[in-house]
Amino acid sequence: MASTTPISQISQPQPLFKKPHFPPSKSLKNPSFSSVPTSNYPSSSRLFGKFADRKMVVVVAATAAAEKSKKRYPGESKGFVEEMRFVAMKLHTKDQAKEGEKEPQGQPVAKWAPSVDGYLRFLVDSKLVYDTLERIVERADFPEYAEFRNTGLERSEGLAKDLEWFKQQGHIIPEPSSPGASYAAYLEELSKKDPQAFICHFYNTYFAHSAGGRMIGKKVAEKILDNKVLEFYKWDGELSQLLQNVREKLNRVAESWSREEKNHCLEETEKSFKFSGDILRLILT
Ligand code: HEM
Repeated sequence: MASTTPISQISQPQPLFKKPHFPPSKSLKNPSFSSVPTSNYPSSSRLFGKFADRKMVVVVAATAAAEKSKKRYPGESKGFVEEMRFVAMKLHTKDQAKEGEKEPQGQPVAKWAPSVDGYLRFLVDSKLVYDTLERIVERADFPEYAEFRNTGLERSEGLAKDLEWFKQQGHIIPEPSSPGASYAAYLEELSKKDPQAFICHFYNTYFAHSAGGRMIGKKVAEKILDNKVLEFYKWDGELSQLLQNVREKLNRVAESWSREEKNHCLEETEKSFKFSGDILRLILT
């Protein structure tokens, strides 16, 4: 049985951001005339009198403001999705994705030894999570969730067909287990009170499935399903276009968020990895 360490490693709390990527220092954040110590420039005042002091202050404040406008959050110039992606990619292990920053431990996906029962547990818990996400956007407790109805990325229906197929093959479909139930309960709770954090989970769940999730599905199918492609891994239409449409909607929704709200969303990424990692690990049980 392959080790799941690359995923479980994700669940260990790590500082998400390296300082230099994030907001400029306080003095740059609020460049103000009064905060600039004019006494630092005695020679200019000696040379040019009291007006020179003021000129110097203007120059210093303008430089500070220019510095501030140059400092950007990673990915910020391309839109908020790129910021979410940047944070997510760093949380991968180096063997999961080339932008991953965590040390690889245990077996890479290619060496996993999945079982049909474990894979069924993963599919059942994944369905619970997608049912929950799709119900939340249908209900739209916050109006911006309605943007994410019928994106074409929905996975619930496909998963229902897959579970039916396994049933017809004589497999017993298990009840959802604790990783899926905990994540679904968490998403329900979050969706009612914290739209920024909820959107982080929405993004990570659907986009992770379209990337690493698909790769995992292919490897598992090679090993235990005679390469059968499940409905979970099929989309109506061009996947890259569906993803692009959702990226644009996410960017639009985030445009109205303050910097603090955006950071709050980014900080939720680690939880998304923890919950999804616990569900992925079911494949190897
Ligand atoms: C064994 C586990 C995983 C593997 C092997 C894996 C692998 C990958 C790979 C290869 C990519 C594509 C990188 C690229 O664009 O060059 C990717 C993207 C991504 N992954 Fe993972 N991943 C795993 C788990 C996760 C988890 C648990 C999450 C979060 C819940 C996640 C979130 C993402 C996101 C958001 C992207 C960006 C997708 C995009 O840009 O469209 N991944 N992953």
